[in-house]
Amino acid sequence: MAQPEYVVIRAQEDGVNVIGLTRGNDTKFHHTEKLDKGEVMIAQFTEHTSAMKIRGKAEIHSAHGIIESEAKK
Ligand code: TRP
Repeated sequence: MAQPEYVVIRAQEDGVNVIGLTRGNDTKFHHTEKLDKGEVMIAQFTEHTSAMKIRGKAEIHSAHGIIESEAKK
């Protein structure tokens, strides 16, 4: 990964979880970051992180545009 992309997550409620999943043969959670409303996390995909899971209401800004995740009902 020469130029790993940044992903920006902006929490729209308290308690949004940004969960990093491992790269490789098994895909496991390796880090959970909790964001409160208005907090922003700027993250990259790395040698260790192949995927991210966002739980809670947030705006996710990436090369694919802006995606909104929804709060659990
Ligand atoms: N140690 C992790 C890594 O280098 C840190 C990290 C990067 C991370 N991107 C992430 C953690 C996204 C959670 C979500 O891969």
